[in-house]
Amino acid sequence: MSEPEALRDALPMNEALGRLFRRMLEEIDRPESVEWDAIESTLDPAVYVDPGVHAKEIDRIFRRLPLCLGHADQLREPGSMIARDIIGLPLLLVRDRQGGINVLLNVCRHRGARLLAGEDEVCRRASLSCPYHAWTYDLDGALRGVPGPEAFPTLDKASRGLRRLPSTVRHGLIWAILDPGTAIACGDADVARFLDGIDDDLAALDLGSHRFFRQHARKRATNWKLVMDAFQEVYHIKRLHAQSISPFFIDTKSTGEGVGPHTRILVGRDRLGEARHLPREAWDLRRHATLTHAIFPNSLIIYHPDFTSHLGMFPVSPGEITFVHTMFTPHAPRSDKERDHWDRSFAMIDERVFGAEDLFIAEQIQLGLRSGANDSLLLGRLEHHLRRFHGHVAAMLAA
Ligand code: FES
Ligand SMILES: [Fe+2]
Repeated sequence: MSEPEALRDALPMNEALGRLFRRMLEEIDRPESVEWDAIESTLDPAVYVDPGVHAKEIDRIFRRLPLCLGHADQLREPGSMIARDIIGLPLLLVRDRQGGINVLLNVCRHRGARLLAGEDEVCRRASLSCPYHAWTYDLDGALRGVPGPEAFPTLDKASRGLRRLPSTVRHGLIWAILDPGTAIACGDADVARFLDGIDDDLAALDLGSHRFFRQHARKRATNWKLVMDAFQEVYHIKRLHAQSISPFFIDTKSTGEGVGPHTRILVGRDRLGEARHLPREAWDLRRHATLTHAIFPNSLIIYHPDFTSHLGMFPVSPGEITFVHTMFTPHAPRSDKERDHWDRSFAMIDERVFGAEDLFIAEQIQLGLRSGANDSLLLGRLEHHLRRFHGHVAAMLAA
């Protein structure tokens, strides 16, 4: 694997990211960080396997917080849509004629048939038509056509549109509250407030101008939190990723901080030392470090050298997730060479690093959790972001 020098676009750094970067430089020669916990802590393995915990997580976390469902540029043209089942809800994400994105339930309002059965491929339609009796809906979900209307003399079409979920697009990302009965608002300002200081990071990084490149969604046999854990510690990078990305990173060198329930983490890359001799304007978030945002509860945004990954972990059961990896790039490919490069990058990061290493180990952990080998799981001092993350989960379950 080589670094894609020619394709790299520097990421702009806001004040918060600049502060983190400076701290990482100051700590470059120190074996420990001021961030590390004083001593080790533990986690209860039950949080990954208990069906009661899972049910509460769905109810109290996943149905109440804005969840990121991907990049709006994936649905570029009016009529583009994708069907996907997320935390037990059949969803339809649709770009309408006015350019808005609608998050609808993929369920007909006549007798409940699924409107679009195919999963995970974007398709284009002028309208939505139910395969059962052909009721038709506009792209915004409004009920338009009912064959044999004389059979429904009292039908109020206005109240039989597809159920909409509160949603918005902010920083190019689609956010929604996945509860059809909710009174929780999900407007632009609500998501900005929810993102707290991460909102300013995402604005500085200008994700809204990035272009959708690829997506891969699949089921994996792990609890969702094990994947969140894996991306909030750097202890494993030189070990688990020894055969892939390890050479690009310095061992256990990172700085990070909690931002409300979210986290921003910078991981030192092999070239970090160069930055010591450069003015702040020349510090490069992609060349000298790798930035990760862990957006509570289940989103990770990872800023690779010349593209960005969004990972969404959507629980199906305590031991299963729908894992959705979306890749976006600073601009559309400008040549076949550039497209080939990003195709190879996606295959490498998606199949090898995420699929065969991070997800693989999460599944391996899941398999052993019920064995009784560990009545507690041990977090070292540098795994402190996991302690904080699990603390936020526990607090929301207790609330
Ligand atoms: S169930 Fe959809 S039209 Fe009858
Ligand atoms: Fe990893």
